[in-house]
Amino acid sequence: MKILITGNLGYVGAIVERCLRKAHPDSIIIGYDSAFFALSTTGAEVLPERLLNAQYFGDVREFPDAMLEGVDAVIHLAAVSNDPMGNRFESVTEDINYRASVELGRKASKAGVSHFVFASSCSVYGFAPGAARTETDELNPQTAYARSKVNTEKGLSEIADNKMIVTCLRFATACGMSDRLRLDLVLNDFVACARATGEISVLSDGSPWRPLIDVRDMARAIDWGISRNADDSARFLALNVGSNDRNYQVKDLANAVAEAIPGTKLSINRAAQPDGRSYQVDFSLFRSLAKDHQPRVTLLQSIYMLDEGLRGMGFADPDFRNSSYIRLKVLDAHIEAGRLTPDLRWSTQASADF
Ligand SMILES: NC(=O)c1ccc[n+]([C@@H]2O[C@H](COP(=O)([O-])OP(=O)(O)OC[C@H]3O[C@@H](n4cnc5c(N)ncnc54)[C@H](O)[C@@H]3O)[C@@H](O)[C@H]2O)c1
Repeated sequence: MKILITGNLGYVGAIVERCLRKAHPDSIIIGYDSAFFALSTTGAEVLPERLLNAQYFGDVREFPDAMLEGVDAVIHLAAVSNDPMGNRFESVTEDINYRASVELGRKASKAGVSHFVFASSCSVYGFAPGAARTETDELNPQTAYARSKVNTEKGLSEIADNKMIVTCLRFATACGMSDRLRLDLVLNDFVACARATGEISVLSDGSPWRPLIDVRDMARAIDWGISRNADDSARFLALNVGSNDRNYQVKDLANAVAEAIPGTKLSINRAAQPDGRSYQVDFSLFRSLAKDHQPRVTLLQSIYMLDEGLRGMGFADPDFRNSSYIRLKVLDAHIEAGRLTPDLRWSTQASADF
């Protein structure tokens, strides 16, 4: 099997590479990424991409057809990958996350790819009070990022044909340790706060609901997506990926971290405005279809692995929210230095001092 992973130099990609190399030792795995965060590795002794057969650098907005030659499965992770970046780069988010993604799907189908897996998000449910949302419930995206995921799912459903099996995995919020760790995710942020300052201060009132999934479990779900048989379900699927027992309120997550890391103080801003993003999600469909690829990592295991990883890195930066572990900060620094253009393309100008 030949597998192409776009956006593989990211937080999730680093773990997907490990999972797939283990599950498919003889396959050819290649990566394609614009490398926005390529230097943001954490505690890795060698590049995580050593497990690949080849790494290519490029932009999915100019995706070369030749890259798809002989490819059986595409895992499409490349994206402007969270709300703060989506808000700051709204039209670029639409171009990269939506237009380029649907175009890649079209090219993949034409090239004879058999499985196309798209990394969607439960944020498509946006503000969804009340019962846990299922795949047939109405979507209510609140941000440019979430809208881009909704539009891409729709675009991919329209190009789905008899040739390619398309799976849109609506992931719960990611958490957990990775060789390319990011700290702009709720659980990761809490563990980093506890480790660096001994204190977690929840900026919201803590009431929003967030389903969580560890990156290792995301990787297992992706492995299911590239191998699934369409006979027992549909050729096109958009489904929630996580587990019913991992819907948490933000304050529960903060409490769990404070209890797991002794000595951590916790403050919750009870006067804060409620967050516009809150949803519980029903993962029963994923449970029934992907029996052998269900989430296994518990909340406590995610916390302990993060804590161990951070301690192993000697992490102690109380100002980490302004550091290279925060994706928006990395992009802003590249733009300020003239390395990236405002529409997130690398500048090929040599520096003046050469
Ligand atoms: N982390 C989460 O909570 C979460 C949850 C649900 C879904 N997802 C989705 O999973 C995917 C991977 O997320 P992640 O956390 O690893 O994100 P990440 O930001 O760490 O990695 C994304 C990668 O995509 C690359 N990329 C961005 N624009 C590109 C372009 N134009 N051309 C080529 N490469 C480009 C970046 O360089 C980066 O390496 C994303 O699609 C994201 O939306 C993430």
